[in-house]
Amino acid sequence: MKPVALITGASAGIGGELARVFAAHGHELVLVARRQDRLAALADEIAASGRPRPTVLALDLETRGTVATLAADLSAHGLEPAIVVNNAGFGLSGAAAKLSRDEQLAMIDLNVRALTELSLAFVDSVARHRGGILNVASIAAFLPGPGMAVYYASKAYVLSFSEALHRELAGSGIRVTALCPGPVQTEFQRRSGMRLPAAAKIFELSAMRVAQIGYDGLMRGERVVIAGGVNKIAVGLMRLIPNVLLLRAVDRRARRAGGE
Ligand SMILES: NC(=O)c1ccc[n+]([C@@H]2O[C@H](COP(=O)([O-])OP(=O)(O)OC[C@H]3O[C@@H](n4cnc5c(N)ncnc54)[C@H](OP(=O)(O)O)[C@@H]3O)[C@@H](O)[C@H]2O)c1
Repeated sequence: MKPVALITGASAGIGGELARVFAAHGHELVLVARRQDRLAALADEIAASGRPRPTVLALDLETRGTVATLAADLSAHGLEPAIVVNNAGFGLSGAAAKLSRDEQLAMIDLNVRALTELSLAFVDSVARHRGGILNVASIAAFLPGPGMAVYYASKAYVLSFSEALHRELAGSGIRVTALCPGPVQTEFQRRSGMRLPAAAKIFELSAMRVAQIGYDGLMRGERVVIAGGVNKIAVGLMRLIPNVLLLRAVDRRARRAGGE
């Protein structure tokens, strides 16, 4: 079986840039997302740069059973993951009680359930290749998020799960890294209905920079990687400020952004 880096959510944003970074470092890729045309265009671009053409699998990871389909597709292609990058995810802005319950549960299916299943499904092959698992969390993982409650909670799960897995799998030579970006201009804002305030500019990094930071962190075997100096300082402060004050500040910002 040929070792590959499996990257979810590669049809846009941070995932697309992660694919470019992994390809540039010589990894053979499998790209997963729902939009086949976008994945095929990225695979063509990578092939045109002289790298092996990534295998493209158009799959909806919110649907139960998809990881089993993915595993069967990989084995039919003679491929097995040495690296798993769980990047696919989305958020929704608004009060949890007012947002669609189905959409919020679908967010948990993608951000939490699929990420967990993919982290665990290929442990044997990742161990065989002494590879790793890169899980994309967020700086939202470090505090509760009124106005995006389920999204923040999903990222807190990603961080907690990845840190524990880092410890559990250390003995088998598997690196597990939680990548925590701050704001990045991608399709995320449109899908979530979130408007970034002008002040968020100082926290912003490009998707390419975040992907490179994530790749380097995984290769170094870091447990948690917070992308960018300003975001590191912000997370340091969040750890010092009591939740009651953080909740008030995030709630105020969310209400302003939502025009309430
Ligand atoms: N942008 C930010 O400010 C920011 C900050 C911190 C963390 N993050 C995290 O970074 C990750 C990437 O986000 P991004 O900013 O790059 O967002 P994005 O541009 O919206 O990209 C999201 C990717 O996930 C894929 N995806 C969505 N639903 C899917 C599904 N059901 N099945 C398979 N793939 C699915 C999308 O592809 P298809 O639509 O083709 O399926 C797309 O490739 C997410 O986990 C996000 O939470 C983002």
